[in-house]
Amino acid sequence: MVCVVTPASRALQSRAKAVAERLDLEFVASVDKLETGVALVVDTDRSWLQRLQSPRLGPVFVDFSSADMLYRRKSGHNEPLGRAMGVKGSSRPMVFDATAGLGRDAFVLADLGCFVTLSEQSAPLSYLLEQARELALLSFNEKVSEAASRMQVLYGDSRQHRAEGFDVIYIDPMFPERGKTAAVKKDLATVQALHADNAEANDPEGLLSWALDQPVERIVIKRPVKAPGLASAKPSHCISGKTVRFDVIVKPKGSDA
Ligand SMILES: C[S@@+](CC[C@H](N)C(=O)[O-])C[C@H]1O[C@@H](n2cnc3c(N)ncnc32)[C@H](O)[C@@H]1O
Repeated sequence: MVCVVTPASRALQSRAKAVAERLDLEFVASVDKLETGVALVVDTDRSWLQRLQSPRLGPVFVDFSSADMLYRRKSGHNEPLGRAMGVKGSSRPMVFDATAGLGRDAFVLADLGCFVTLSEQSAPLSYLLEQARELALLSFNEKVSEAASRMQVLYGDSRQHRAEGFDVIYIDPMFPERGKTAAVKKDLATVQALHADNAEANDPEGLLSWALDQPVERIVIKRPVKAPGLASAKPSHCISGKTVRFDVIVKPKGSDA
């Protein structure tokens, strides 16, 4: 089992057991002796992921009010992402984020005014996303609570869904550590460790061919800035930031499956 559920303290044992049962994951009272996999550590309001392999990396939270997220919403980092989605003037597309992960891109888009469905195949991640969304709804920061009200979380393989009623499908596949900071590397390493036993968890070409069959006008794929595009479709145009590039496929009207 790659992911186990454990309580943050003895007082939270029954809560952690209930979460383990709900997510169909193994409960362990203590992870002190475990050296592989990831633990979902259940705390009173904000739970987190902990990679267990040595050296143990720090905790990974999904927190839409964190200093990092507030910095991201204030800085210009978001501009290429919003432009790639078609955020312009009063246009606020409905986005199906097919690879929600830690929800950071999704939150930025919701903050820009888009309605975003965060689809995630990992049970512990989708649990953390929903918990973070509920906490963000209660935030004193109105921008954060308003953005959260434009988000919904969906658990499962995105390819099982029909993206009806959306303008854009967004795909951010896992690719080798691309961030410069230790924090970004820690987060990605932990997300990747969640999928260590499932080689099919990362299938960007499969996601793209599913997306091409969906009734959306636009598909946006995040790539490292110098990486080749995905093979199955040529982008209509690309929008590059410093480290990442967004390949945009605009589908001709009437080409929906
Ligand atoms: C690189 S992370 C995405 C990071 C995200 N954009 C963010 O801002 O936090 C990729 C995520 O996509 C998820 N994923 C990959 N294929 C998926 C699929 N077919 N359905 C749902 N989720 C998928 C993985 O479980 C992983 O959590």
